[in-house]
Amino acid sequence: MENFISVHDAGNIDALVAKALQYKAHPFSDSSLGLHKRIGCLFLNPSMRTRLSTQIAAQNLGMDAIVFNVGQEGWALEFEEEAIMSGSTVEHVKDAAPIMGRYFDVLAIRTFPSLKNREDDYSELFIRQFIKYAGIPVVSLESATLHPLQSFTDIITISENFKEKRTPRIVLTWAPHVKPLPQCVANSFAQWINAWGQADFVITHPEDYELDRQFVGKATVTHHQDQALKDADFVYVKNWSTYEDYGKIYCNDPEWMLTNEKLKLTNNAKVMHCLPVRRNVELSDEILDGPNSLVTEEASNRVWAAQAVLSEILDPKI
Ligand code: CP
Repeated sequence: MENFISVHDAGNIDALVAKALQYKAHPFSDSSLGLHKRIGCLFLNPSMRTRLSTQIAAQNLGMDAIVFNVGQEGWALEFEEEAIMSGSTVEHVKDAAPIMGRYFDVLAIRTFPSLKNREDDYSELFIRQFIKYAGIPVVSLESATLHPLQSFTDIITISENFKEKRTPRIVLTWAPHVKPLPQCVANSFAQWINAWGQADFVITHPEDYELDRQFVGKATVTHHQDQALKDADFVYVKNWSTYEDYGKIYCNDPEWMLTNEKLKLTNNAKVMHCLPVRRNVELSDEILDGPNSLVTEEASNRVWAAQAVLSEILDPKI
């Protein structure tokens, strides 16, 4: 594996899931693989799960993990080519990234979209520039449009929790939120579920929250949440802001929050969310604290997803 930026870097998803589950069963089975290797984890934005799980995964493989909160502690980076740097940015990525390429063996980066200019965000300039100038493998810890480690984790979690010999019905539902959030978790989940190809996949959201068609693929899309939830085996809950009129909140109807009453429409569905979650805005207490919630299990699987990916970068086997 050269980089890990999207599902296109994953190769055989089932094989990668199997590898992650092997690490879950035997966390230290490859504890020498990363000996004397170093991963730099750059955060331009906040994180809890991604930061900790990636560090633990690296340490399980014997790697040193160094976290650098660039957004708070580093020089403000410029990403545009030929920029005249007379504004707030202090250092160009084409100067910083090659140095990181000398310090580290793998570079992992978290950056969020601006939600101001769709073309800029969807060009994934930050990640592309690090790949261009670092000269070492780059892992996305969430980018402007995608969150591949989260989505890989989600498929691991679904695989563990569905043992029937039929196709699961998986529903991605929009949920209300107080702030405009990126589309990246929803984009990425759709991209991975489509590539996995082992689900009856439905996306439901209010009008005006259509996602980019390149990620929706062949999923069924409906504005009627009740219809979507019928017979669902898994309900993935996530807010996102508008894609067409970019980065806005239109409808924020609290009726879209998942409740136990709505869960009755499903096939006793397991409920997933990437976290952090706004309780009783995005998801109700009764769901999060109830028996159908997979959120803690899902977040704990982030370690094995990251460990499988780092292992494939250090020593490709799949
Ligand atoms: N789900 C997720 O990426 O969590 P953090 O933002 O805490 O890393």
